[in-house]
Amino acid sequence: MSSIIENRQITVGVTGSIAAYKIVDVVSKLVQQGAVVDVAMTSAAVNFISPLTFQSITGREPYVDMWGVHGVKGEAHIELARRTELMLIAPATASTMASLAHGFADDFVTLTALATKAPLLISPAMDSQMWDHDATQINLNLLQERGAHFIGPEQGRLASGQIGTGRLAESQKIIATIKSCLGKLEGDLTGKTVMVTAGGTREAIDPVRYIGNRSSGKMGNALAEAARDRGADVVLITTVPETAPEAVEVVAVESASEMEVAVSDHLERSEVLIMAAAVADYRVDQASEQKIKREHAKNIDLKLVPNNDIIASIATDIVKVAFAAETEDLIDNAKKKLLDKNVNLIVANNVTGEMSGFGSDTNIITILDDRGQIEELPVLSKYSCAMEILDRISDRLGS
Ligand code: PMT
Repeated sequence: MSSIIENRQITVGVTGSIAAYKIVDVVSKLVQQGAVVDVAMTSAAVNFISPLTFQSITGREPYVDMWGVHGVKGEAHIELARRTELMLIAPATASTMASLAHGFADDFVTLTALATKAPLLISPAMDSQMWDHDATQINLNLLQERGAHFIGPEQGRLASGQIGTGRLAESQKIIATIKSCLGKLEGDLTGKTVMVTAGGTREAIDPVRYIGNRSSGKMGNALAEAARDRGADVVLITTVPETAPEAVEVVAVESASEMEVAVSDHLERSEVLIMAAAVADYRVDQASEQKIKREHAKNIDLKLVPNNDIIASIATDIVKVAFAAETEDLIDNAKKKLLDKNVNLIVANNVTGEMSGFGSDTNIITILDDRGQIEELPVLSKYSCAMEILDRISDRLGS
């Protein structure tokens, strides 16, 4: 499955901040994922990092000199601006933000930004005092009002040694936001909200122990990532928020009851619900408030009571997709769940093999729908499985 950024024309504008060296990693990852990356640099950026570094990674000559010919007949910045599909400006200094906000075009980066119709993604980096300054905040608002996207800055240790807001966003966050922006440009799920559940619920026995299951959250995460890459606004309700993909809205939950509340809270704004989470069918009736002590030779009886079936209890008219994790009679059990849970699609998932089910990076699924269709898929990465599932959802949304 090709990446959303494969063969896309991305221009990276690098400006004069010590964080400029970090953009080498971003550019390298974009190139590795198949993007065609041009780098434009301000003369201040060249003080921090050599154009040769970017040339070596991209195989393309960076644009630095405003007056240079750059091997094109017309004006280089216009030619670059025309073919750019997304322009990332990172690190963006306070001065570059000011130029962008007010339409100054006195270096190759701002010149291209002013000329392009492509979306602008700005990743600022500066000292927190400069970031907090009214002038910068007003420029930020102006740029956001005009539709520019921002990623960061983050809190942390700054070049000055102070702790504050001003650190460049992490590479993976910048790349995830690029994918989300490109997805929204032409993705088939643009304008749709897709809710995904991921991970295994935890039902408390006492403050220390819980009843859980083997779900890692990988399948749900892959669905969230794939929906994001196709332009959807994604709400990921998960028991493993620490592994959630970037550029999606994350709601952390633990138990099935918490998941039920979170799903209900986000239902009205969603067009699609995909329940990839392994939800406990039972919970402990009365979880102990204190840690249960071991008393030798004494059994403990836990009374379990049923949890609500989250997806089956949703009456709203949205596209509903459930998974059926099975160890036997895969298709028959999945057909039964399709009807019992009143869903549009059910993804039958054999959870006994090494290549599929819990914790693996691949999966083996069969997709059944409420029109009687059954499609068996080969071993695929979980991201590719997610794309297959989203293809069928997209058809139903008529997008
Ligand atoms: O997270 P990974 O390690 O990547 O593993 C992925 C997975 C195996 C967990 C995933 O692919 C999967 O199969 N998820 C469904 C697990 C499950 O709970 O299956 P089930 O057959 O017990 O439930 C059927 C459906 O009803 C599921 O969509 C479940 O989310 C939903 N359900 C279940 C119980 C309940 N109380 N409410 C529900 O909505």
